[in-house]
Order: sequence, then structure tokens, then C-alpha cells
Amino acid sequence: MSEAPTAAAKTIEALRAQEASIGVWGCGHIGASAMYHFSRKGIRCAGFDVAPGRVQEIREGRFLSTDVVPSGWVEARTQNVVATTEWSDLKAQNVLVHLIAVPTERGADPSSAILEDVMPRICETIRDSEVGGLTPAVFIESTIQPTWIDTIVIPALHASGLRPGIDVLVGAAPRRDWFSGGEHSLEKLPRIVGGVSPEATELMIQLYSIVCDEVVPARDAYHSAFTKVIENLLRFQGLALANSLSLAFPQFDMTHVLKLASTKWNIPLYHPSMGIGGHCIPLAPRYTMAEGGEKNEYLEFVKNAVEFNEAYFGRLYDARLRELLSDCRSIVILGLAYTPDAKMHKLSPALDAARVLRDTPRLRMHDPFYSDEDIEDICGLPTLPFPEGLRDCDGVVLVTAHTAYKQTAVEKYIGAGTVIVDNFGTWSGREFAAGVRYHEVGRKFVEDARSSLPFPEPVQSLTS
Ligand SMILES: NC(=O)c1ccc[n+]([C@@H]2O[C@H](COP(=O)([O-])OP(=O)(O)OC[C@H]3O[C@@H](n4cnc5c(N)ncnc54)[C@H](O)[C@@H]3O)[C@@H](O)[C@H]2O)c1
Repeated sequence: MSEAPTAAAKTIEALRAQEASIGVWGCGHIGASAMYHFSRKGIRCAGFDVAPGRVQEIREGRFLSTDVVPSGWVEARTQNVVATTEWSDLKAQNVLVHLIAVPTERGADPSSAILEDVMPRICETIRDSEVGGLTPAVFIESTIQPTWIDTIVIPALHASGLRPGIDVLVGAAPRRDWFSGGEHSLEKLPRIVGGVSPEATELMIQLYSIVCDEVVPARDAYHSAFTKVIENLLRFQGLALANSLSLAFPQFDMTHVLKLASTKWNIPLYHPSMGIGGHCIPLAPRYTMAEGGEKNEYLEFVKNAVEFNEAYFGRLYDARLRELLSDCRSIVILGLAYTPDAKMHKLSPALDAARVLRDTPRLRMHDPFYSDEDIEDICGLPTLPFPEGLRDCDGVVLVTAHTAYKQTAVEKYIGAGTVIVDNFGTWSGREFAAGVRYHEVGRKFVEDARSSLPFPEPVQSLTS
């Protein structure tokens, strides 16, 4: 005799049959990419976002600002996605699973404000939705402090008369994938999931198995949410340590030392840099300290690393870059994004560079992912044509290792006397004209890339 389908199996069946849908709250990188992946598997998705421009992009099939997804094709090939700026529209979409993908940061700090804002709306949508007697679910994909489950999510359910675990399943399924596809994609990376109740975890395993090759269940939602914070913290500590070592030991080529060290099986590769940017890594210590308590004596070195990191660019500039760039009258900052081949500039060191170099007589910025207007709006700087514009620069600060910068033969545009500061060694090994002064962050003060390394270095892909 075959067993009766579980509640989780019935939910998945309803989603697959398109009798119910996934509702996404916040359609930015995380929310839109969730819609993209689920809709490709035939699941109906309904997204709500406060930004009309974002909603319009999704209606046009433009899911990611990284341009990884070919424009338009999801809507062209399926009718599985709708997007709206009216949250109450989701009530008509038979939403059975709500994914929360709203921002949880304000500036450089974690912030639960938007989560608090959307929870009552999600509850009202749940109460007013027809889902065929199945139990709806709320899964949080945004990065959160685990405590917020108990202080925000569950109280909001109770306040609207919904009993967690009975009327609504709750869980955390943090995102750790990267958008450029390949081995770090949502499909390929193991997905950590955890529910507040075993039923929630069971549903999460089945749901996320639709889009992820491997789903790893956590003990519960709190451990699932905290994994995201801690894995980012480990990375933050490593990067901050690499940066501090490069300042502490200027007599050493610290980039070289760290590359050599990384040939040991249990040591990741860290490259000293101009700073730690992005949504995730720089915030991890703050989530950790908030969760552990600001006075937690065991988190002293996390606190120290945060303080070091806050002052880092200024210290790097004073110790190494100021003297190098002081005679430059026409500097270009190449790359606004904090990471290669993406339009993401949150806490990018390019912003620090623009700030400290603002008194340069001619300061410009270029990034292939940002329009002239974008750069003007974000940094108040003009741009230049790349690579031709390099001809009239006597200083180049190469922040972002975009493919466009890696692949372009820039040598003929860069004249003798030009100073190049290269964040990740994107141009190391290039045959620049005699008299070009090249400095890769983390190396000794100024080196000629051609002659300084008589021995080949271990080859590994660099990570930011
Ligand atoms: N981008 C990443 O690489 C990444 C990776 C892992 C986790 N995260 C986390 O995912 C969450 C979302 O990040 P993101 O990168 O998608 O941000 P994002 O800025 O790209 O998108 C957030 C979207 O939410 C919308 N929004 C803002 N307030 C809203 C509201 N009240 N109701 C509905 N929508 C609202 C914004 O208009 C925006 O489109 C954050 O917690 C972030 O830390 C991001």
C-alpha cells in the first residue's frame, strides 16, 4: 500500500501544478534571482518590490543587474513571473510559500527595519489568500541575525493570529551563491536550510531541491541563519588579517607570502587589498556582535578587526599610496564595483579612493558596468573613454579586476612616469613603458612587475 503524501509533498505538488505560487518580497539580486530559478523550473512566482524601476525590469525579464541572464527570455518563454509595486496584489496569486529577500542592512550596519515593515503585510496576505487548505510558509533568504526570528518574525505572526508551526511554517534559507554562474551558482552551491519546526525543514528540503543540486539541512532556522553570518565572518577575519599584515610588514611582499602559504592544504588564499566591500562580508562581524552582545568578552578580536577595518583605507593611503600618488595631477579610478564583473558598489574601496583623492586637479572614474550618469550620481566624478583616456592620466588606481580591464591591452596608452596602483595585481606582469611606476597592493612599496619576482609564484585564482 502506498503511503499518503506528506504535507510537504502536497505543497510541492501544488506549486508544480501551478495551483499555488511563490511570493517574493523584495526583488533585488536575491529575490529576483530566486524568481528566475524557480520560474525556470515551471513554478509560478509573484514578486513585490517598492521600486517601480525594479518591477519594470522584472516584467521585461531582466532579473539581474549583473547581466548574467539574457534579457527578456524568462517572460518570453514562460508566463511564470509577475511583479508588482502593490503588495496586496499578492493576495490574488495563491501564494503558498513566501520568500523574504528584502534588504537587512542600512549603510554598514545590519537593520531589521524593512523586515519589520514587510512581516505584517506577509501575514495579511497569508490570511487573505486561497491556498487549498495547505499550510503556507515563510522562508527568509535575506541575511538576518538569528534572534530576529524570535523578536520580529514570530511575534508578527502571533500578532495577526497565525500560529507558527501550525498555521504557518517558518524557516531560514540564507543565500551564499554568486550570480556569475559556474560553480558558485545557486544550483551548484550546497544550500543550507533550517525550519523553526521539523515540518518546515522538511518542506524546505523539498522546495530548495527543485533549484539546488544539494540541500544541507541545519539543526533549525537559527543555526541555518547563523551559518551565513559565521561563514562571512571567517572570510572577513582572514581578509582583515591579510590587510593588517601587509601594513605591519612593509619590508615583506605580503601578497607573495600569502600565496605561498596558501599552497598548504588548509590555508585559503587571501590577497591584501584596498578594503573589504560588498553587502555581506563587511557586515558579518556586526551581525556577530549584535547576536553575541556588544559586551561579549569572547568577541574582542572581532571588535578589534572591525575597528581596524573602518580605518583601513586611510591607513593604507597614509602608509603607501599618498607618497606614490602625490605628484599626480590627472588620476583615473578604474572600477567602482567592489567585485569583478558586477554592478555592485556597496562599501566599495573605490568610494574611499574617490574621497581621499578628491583634491586631485583632474580626477575621473570609469567602470564598464556603470553609465556616465551613474558615476556622476554616485561619486560626483566625470568619466573617461577607456582605454584611450588613459593617455592623459599620470595616475591609475585600478580597483576592480573587471574582465574588460584584464583583457584590454592598456600598455600602449600608459606613458612613462605614470603611477599605477593595482588592487589585485590585475596588470602584474604587463610590459609597461620604462618609467611607469607599478604598485600592487600588498607588495613591497613600488615594484617593477617584470623584474621583482625572479621565481614564478604559485598560481591560484584570486578572491576578493
Ligand atoms: N547580493 C548578495 O550578494 C547577497 C548575498 C547573500 C545575501 N544577501 C542578502 O539578501 C538580502 C537582499 O539583498 P539584495 O542583494 O537582493 O539587495 P538589493 O538591494 O539588490 O534588493 C533588495 C530589494 O528590496 C526592495 N525593497 C526595499 N524595501 C522594500 C520593502 N519594504 N518591501 C519590498 N521590497 C523592498 C528594494 O527596492 C530592492 O529591489 C539582504 O539581506 C542581503 O544581505 C545578498
